[in-house]
Amino acid sequence: MCNVLPVLADALTASQRFEEQLLNRLASRRKRSRSRSFKTRASVVPVSHSSVHPRKETTRSRAPRIKDDLRRVAVSLPSLPFPNFLSICDSYISRSRYGRSSETEPLKAEEAGRETSRSIAKVLMGSILVLGGNGFVGSHVCKEALAQGFSVSSLSRSGKPSTRESWAEKVEWHKGNLLEPESLRDAMSDATAVVSCVGGFGSPSHMRTLNGTANVNAVQVASEQGVQRFAYVSAASFGVIDYFLQGYYDGQRVTEAAISSKFPNGGVILRPGYIYGKSESIIFAPFEKVLQYAEPLRRIPLIGPVFTPPVSVFKVAKVIVKGVTDPTFSPGVVDLYSIIRLGKEL
Ligand SMILES: NC(=O)c1ccc[n+]([C@@H]2O[C@H](COP(=O)([O-])OP(=O)(O)OC[C@H]3O[C@@H](n4cnc5c(N)ncnc54)[C@H](OP(=O)(O)O)[C@@H]3O)[C@@H](O)[C@H]2O)c1
Repeated sequence: MCNVLPVLADALTASQRFEEQLLNRLASRRKRSRSRSFKTRASVVPVSHSSVHPRKETTRSRAPRIKDDLRRVAVSLPSLPFPNFLSICDSYISRSRYGRSSETEPLKAEEAGRETSRSIAKVLMGSILVLGGNGFVGSHVCKEALAQGFSVSSLSRSGKPSTRESWAEKVEWHKGNLLEPESLRDAMSDATAVVSCVGGFGSPSHMRTLNGTANVNAVQVASEQGVQRFAYVSAASFGVIDYFLQGYYDGQRVTEAAISSKFPNGGVILRPGYIYGKSESIIFAPFEKVLQYAEPLRRIPLIGPVFTPPVSVFKVAKVIVKGVTDPTFSPGVVDLYSIIRLGKEL
């Protein structure tokens, strides 16, 4: 164990360096592509760019250098069971924007989110309906939205929670069941945005129904009622563990597909790992801090999910509220690393 810890620390430091390099290069790449597109638009000048500018390094040609960094980590891990580390590096690079063509693949929400946080936020005014607003995540979403001055309502089977906290008095509480779509219409009629924090565990068929059917009903009614933005708290994959929670993940992926289809321009899907609250922060916050930089380690077969960073419920709530109120926040999947990063920036 004593031998392993310094090696792991090295690996984490190197992956942090890697992450920083990646972000720096991404930033410079975006700058270049912006100036390129500007130049293209202003292409009245009848000179080919390649004849004026020396040939620049391409995104693909930079990949080997990043891979070298990872290779240095790999050689420092001989005593650990990481035989596939280099192939993981390869797959990381090919999955990252360094190994793919921006023409053929859509940008991830994390990229758009980065852009958003720098832009002047225009805010969608109106009411936010939180499905499951009396649950763990839902109650934090309600509090965050209220703190930002939005009008908030919530729908769940039991309605108003028993808490005496003052925020609960400011929420308009509805009783309804996502499995009975008619019970959602009234609550959704005034909502500009809907956030679903409904989901949970149980038997495979219960998980499929609650995480899938129930949320798909909500997506359907929201789109019929003209809601502009729909956000959903889904979950990150945990590799082989997913197999034992098939109903949970099957249901969530069905809901995600419904959101992409009904809200192609306004659907925001968050995929956090474990979400912790204030009382657990002493235990989980340090893990969040360290593991957020260890994304490549998470791709290690079988044991990779151990490196999944937990995320604070406050960050999840901030990103959700931003996602449904800021029209410049691009729709799509926001992965757990992006939730942590955006949550810090907001
Ligand atoms: N907690 C985590 O660590 C974590 C991690 C990753 C993802 N997530 C996801 O985040 C979401 C929220 O999780 P959570 O921990 O906040 O769950 P939670 O505390 O159990 O809250 C679930 C909420 O859903 C409501 N609900 C359940 N069935 C309903 C139905 N048929 N119709 C209407 N409302 C219903 C519940 O209220 P009533 O009982 O009053 O109906 C409750 O408000 C879930 O989708 C979960 O999968 C959570």
